[in-house]
Amino acid sequence: MEKLLVLGDIHANWPALKAIFDYIRPERFDGIINTGDFTVYSTFPNETVDWFRKQQKTLCILGNTDLRLLNILAGKKLKKPRKEEKRVMYFWTADHLSNKNHLFLKSLPNKMECVIKNIRIGIFHGTFDDPEETLYPDVPINRFRELAANAPYQVHIMGHSHIPYYKKVGGVHFVNPGSVGRMYDGDPRTSFAIIKVSSKRIAVEHFRIPYPVRKVTASLEKHGLPTIYKRMYEIGKKLN
Ligand SMILES: [Fe+2]
Repeated sequence: MEKLLVLGDIHANWPALKAIFDYIRPERFDGIINTGDFTVYSTFPNETVDWFRKQQKTLCILGNTDLRLLNILAGKKLKKPRKEEKRVMYFWTADHLSNKNHLFLKSLPNKMECVIKNIRIGIFHGTFDDPEETLYPDVPINRFRELAANAPYQVHIMGHSHIPYYKKVGGVHFVNPGSVGRMYDGDPRTSFAIIKVSSKRIAVEHFRIPYPVRKVTASLEKHGLPTIYKRMYEIGKKLN
């Protein structure tokens, strides 16, 4: 049996990520999966990326937010998001990301796969078809059936929706760990999942644990970033 820690949508929230590591001891896992969106919306992109950059057994992909950040750093125009308070967070991150972490993000793919105990696992930010598709748990079941039939994986691990869930459709397991650092559901605690894989069984467990939100909001204040984000972290809800 192999034990995987599944993380995603950290969005530079290092205090939340650290709370997870203090709770579960990452060295006890056979692998750590990150479904992307390392950066933007909190002020700890370097602490977050530094940690992954220094690990051996992580499987990391980029999210749409990371891709936009890389585009800014490549001198391209930021088309989306349009809201000024969101754009500020992207530009702040581009100004503060270290060169080492920029290069690390640049080296990552936007999807990958691994085989564990003969089980083929796909890792996506959105879906197998589209890194920006948001596969909410309540999208019509036919979409899940289509993905189960068309992709060569027995397990799909995804991020992007920021909603933790686990579904089995057409014999295929769909797992979203929820968001480590930017919650949408009114619960400000951090979210992650643990998957246990054996040749006979897949077991998925989700966790929500508290973290020091004040560390995030104090840093936003210190850097003069939009106050809407302070409230967002306090109540665990997307406000823009
Ligand atoms: Fe995200």
